[in-house]
Amino acid sequence: MKIYVAGHRGMVGSAIVRTLLAQGVAPGDIVTRTHAELDLCNQQAVNAFFAATPLDQVYLAAGRVGGIYGNNTFPAEFIYQNLMIQANVVHAAHTSGVKKLLALGSSCIYPRVASQPMAEGALLTGTLEPTNEPYAVAKIAGIKLCESYNRQYGASQGTDYRSVMPTNLYGPGDQYFTDSSHVIPALIRRFHEAKRDGATAVSIWGTGTVRREFLYVDDMAAASVFVMNLSMERYGANTQPMCSHINVGYGSDVTILEAAQAIAQVVGYHGQIHFDASKPDGAPRKWMDSTRINQLGWTPKCTFTQGLGQAYADFLLVEKARSPQAC
Ligand SMILES: NC(=O)c1ccc[n+]([C@@H]2O[C@H](COP(=O)([O-])OP(=O)(O)OC[C@H]3O[C@@H](n4cnc5c(N)ncnc54)[C@H](OP(=O)(O)O)[C@@H]3O)[C@@H](O)[C@H]2O)c1
Repeated sequence: MKIYVAGHRGMVGSAIVRTLLAQGVAPGDIVTRTHAELDLCNQQAVNAFFAATPLDQVYLAAGRVGGIYGNNTFPAEFIYQNLMIQANVVHAAHTSGVKKLLALGSSCIYPRVASQPMAEGALLTGTLEPTNEPYAVAKIAGIKLCESYNRQYGASQGTDYRSVMPTNLYGPGDQYFTDSSHVIPALIRRFHEAKRDGATAVSIWGTGTVRREFLYVDDMAAASVFVMNLSMERYGANTQPMCSHINVGYGSDVTILEAAQAIAQVVGYHGQIHFDASKPDGAPRKWMDSTRINQLGWTPKCTFTQGLGQAYADFLLVEKARSPQAC
């Protein structure tokens, strides 16, 4: 069994590799290529790689990923790169005879004003959030690529391409030091720096009242491996050919204030937390309905507090590597 993890140096891809190794997959059976070795936007290079590399399974965890800043500043790059990566990998997997593929999507595929929690059936029922619409359209195309190849080639060739839609993820491999950090890595860094510098207050954008769901990345990786290895019968019985994606959430959400208080506690920051309500909040709530994957038998293992502890330990390693004298 040869397993290609595309994007193995990213947060999700590296967690999938950790999970596969922990489940007993031999290191030599995990195939990886760095971005420098194989640009997945380059169709010729992707075709050549798949033609030369016998593979049984593909995890597609490579993509152009970022927060509001990145999505707003580089919309052309976000839609082009994600469309190309998915189209090239899915098509090359098909032409080279790979039967099993799992693509990673995102909760932003759902309409901006979806009823909560957001079930898989909410896809394509309303207008997307404008700030990340190009990225979301590419991710929706990824779902539809998988479904279309299954519908055309599933019966004749055994094509079985699946997709999972994670909620907000955090944990080892997160981006703590970029302009477009997500909320948890950004707050870990800010509270850590406030503690280190003796600051008495930290100001956070928005009202603090909006709700978000957070999942530890190793739980996401475990869910990915779980969905990949479900039998076709069980997968087929719990999905539909044109609504085949599976949400992966933590199961409950917290307000940004509650998340900030939990992170401050883990970091050991005891100063004040202020909210700047003049700054944008984003959607009031983004909560995934994970009934489908729960009924299939998967639930997350890591509590929010445990996950934050492990994320902060990872941050300290990254911080130490950046500036050894700072810790
Ligand atoms: N992080 C989250 O909260 C979250 C939430 C929901 C869904 N997801 C999804 O999970 C997937 C992985 O996200 P992530 O957080 O792991 O992102 P990440 O940490 O930024 O990793 C993405 C990986 O893709 C690689 N990559 C990007 N463009 C490439 C290209 N043209 N050719 C080859 N490799 C390329 C990157 O390599 P380089 O760094 O060398 O470019 C990197 O290793 C994405 O599809 C994303 O939509 C993530």
